[in-house]
Amino acid sequence: MQERKCWQPVMYERELTTSPKSVKLCGERLVLWRDQKNAIHALKDLCIHRGTALSLGTIRGNEIVCPYHGWSFNGSGACTFIPQLEDQKKIPEKAKINSYKCRSQFGIVWVALEDPLWDLPEIPELNDKNWHIAETGPFPWQANASRQVENFTDFAHFPFVHPGLLGDPSRPLVPEHTVVAEDHILFYEVHRPEATNTDEFPIFGNPTQETPMRWNSYKLYLPFTIVLTIRWDNTPNQMIYFFASQSVSDNECIGYCIVAKNYGEDDSNTIRKFEEVIFDQDKRIVESQRPEQVPFNLAEELHLKFDAVALAYRRQMKKMGFKNE
Ligand code: FES
Ligand SMILES: [Fe+2]
Repeated sequence: MQERKCWQPVMYERELTTSPKSVKLCGERLVLWRDQKNAIHALKDLCIHRGTALSLGTIRGNEIVCPYHGWSFNGSGACTFIPQLEDQKKIPEKAKINSYKCRSQFGIVWVALEDPLWDLPEIPELNDKNWHIAETGPFPWQANASRQVENFTDFAHFPFVHPGLLGDPSRPLVPEHTVVAEDHILFYEVHRPEATNTDEFPIFGNPTQETPMRWNSYKLYLPFTIVLTIRWDNTPNQMIYFFASQSVSDNECIGYCIVAKNYGEDDSNTIRKFEEVIFDQDKRIVESQRPEQVPFNLAEELHLKFDAVALAYRRQMKKMGFKNE
């Protein structure tokens, strides 16, 4: 499964402490923890002795201790202590748990179940002190990650699902756009008049004219990560939306959405509330979609000209070796 060979988000970094934390990725249960030197570790959440979830255990020093019979495992999954053994030199070689590559980047913890094919994107703005950063969500949906990502890229639904917030029902036309594919990255840009800021969520950096022109530049990193840069005419104000979906299982995903902006005050709370509303509006639509996974066979759904991104996503996913399960 190609998704196993990709960095995927598993939690915001602030959620990871020196207590074991259980997560699920591509149907597999993992345990993560932060050791005393602040390094993070990810093991399969299953003790080799009797199949107990290690995440129910405790962290001692830098190691995880199984709650059932107290065996200890280090960050690479090797068993280092078996309390019932008189001679610790006799720990069998088989006493080992699968360990996985993990790292933290952009305030998110990432895991790759197999050697990752591609690196994470570079987004210097997210490390720039002049930008305000809001971590929104996470957004757990009963949907395949491919549907959650495709929803994030879909322009045609704005006036219908997010009227007044992201789209205007009197302007349903999707502006012309072309998609360029380079290996696992899709590039495209849309220039369109947008809905004005609402009184409740005045988060966008546009000047206050009626229908501000907005530039949306997208980079979609297959399979499930998007960097969207937003600019408006006549202002240096910019926003960046960084979105990544965790493929929890075939029909569960969790979206992480970081919103950064280079203007105004830090209004993270308002941004978080705004994204709660937006993602909630999308959720019931996307959870209803069948088949659960985006079908990579183009004949399976009906595509029109304005669905260029959806078409490119399907073609390129297939080309990069992703399969419908
Ligand atoms: S089940 Fe983990 S130590 Fe026995
Ligand atoms: Fe939406």
